[in-house]
Amino acid sequence: AQEIPDILSPEFAADPYPAYRAMRESAPLLWHDATKSYVISRYEDVERTFKDRESEFTTDNYDWQIEPVHGKTILQLSGREHAVRRALVAPAFRGSDLEQKFLPVIERNARELIGAFLRDERGEGGGEVDLVAAFATRFPVNVIADMLGLDKADHAKFHGWYTSVIAFLGNLAGDPEIAAAGDRTRREFAEYMIPVIRHRRENLGGDLLSTLCAAEVDGVRMSDEDIKAFCSLLLAAGGETTDKAIASIFANLLTHPDQLAAVRADRTLVGRAFAETLRFTPPVHMIMRQTAKEVTLSGGTVPAGATVTCLIGAANRDGARYTDPDTFNIFRDDLTSATAFSAAADHLAFALGRHFCVGALLAKAEVETGVNQLLDALPDMRLAEGFVPVEQGVFTRGPVEVRVRFGG
Ligand code: HEM
Repeated sequence: AQEIPDILSPEFAADPYPAYRAMRESAPLLWHDATKSYVISRYEDVERTFKDRESEFTTDNYDWQIEPVHGKTILQLSGREHAVRRALVAPAFRGSDLEQKFLPVIERNARELIGAFLRDERGEGGGEVDLVAAFATRFPVNVIADMLGLDKADHAKFHGWYTSVIAFLGNLAGDPEIAAAGDRTRREFAEYMIPVIRHRRENLGGDLLSTLCAAEVDGVRMSDEDIKAFCSLLLAAGGETTDKAIASIFANLLTHPDQLAAVRADRTLVGRAFAETLRFTPPVHMIMRQTAKEVTLSGGTVPAGATVTCLIGAANRDGARYTDPDTFNIFRDDLTSATAFSAAADHLAFALGRHFCVGALLAKAEVETGVNQLLDALPDMRLAEGFVPVEQGVFTRGPVEVRVRFGG
């Protein structure tokens, strides 16, 4: 058998893709001691796990990870409780609300951030900027804060909580300082959000928070605490993911200049570039499920009540599903997103089934707007001299820096 590095080892973190291949080929069901979970890597197994309607797999195992920083969120709910919560929040992220209310917010926030770094960075002979620090890490959080209708003056605070939540969720080594900061953030976030939610209930407007306050399904409404937990989840679920998607789409295009030129010339290809980025370098590489009963997958049987770690990053490069899976190619035949938004058919980056990313359309709108505006603002954008983007992260993953040169 091939030697497969531990999924929490530095060797794996440096480049997980050879390990993913070895797992798919020779160990599609792998026991992992440190996370006490069965790790699965083949497309067909991960797809089946996500698609299941809770007869075999649930999200009951999420509490330990998510509760301490967010409280009870939609991700931990199951059955009817989940269906009702989903019906309460989903309409806000669908077509008409998104286009009419939030597209202008998205466009304005992209313009403001690009304007700010152009003012700071453009010298006589052009400039250089890290798209991650100057744009990707700021844009989705600003958009969420603005969609919620929070004070502009509080965006910096919101950003601080975002950073702390992400650090908490990524704290695999259990660093006590990060854990304590996470506890503080949960308290501060509640102290800030609960009065804002109470005030908004009495002063409804056109923003997302008002929609959440007013939402009612079968006589059920969300409590202040439910809404606060959902907003906290949005920081990680809607912030870090979109941040990494933007960093990755630029890293992928800039390292494939012919495809960048094609996208620049024909902007209808931005959708394909986004879909292929989510397949090739998904922001979320691992998510977990719990078995409701004994389940047989490729490579063996998992007992009831066990944790299953689904490797999205591995499934998305399964040669049984994709031709030439380790090549970034926005023109590949196995992408359908050229015309319609059909992520579910293209890759597993948004999961599938009951917990399929509720923000997928918002993410698409944000990434496409961000990419288009950046391409317009930096017509000759290229990687800075000698710079090579490096991915980091195991559960979530993306380039930590994308340093580009423009003008000059
Ligand atoms: C769920 C990925 C953007 C909100 C999920 C899940 C994945 C995912 C993999 C399933 C988690 C699981 O089943 O355990 C992504 C990626 C994004 C993105 C890759 C960007 C490219 C967003 C945005 C928002 C959002 C912009 C909202 C602002 C949510 C929520 C859930 C979710 C609330 C939970 C849905 C449920 O439990 O029913 N996302 N997401 N996501 N996402 Fe996203």
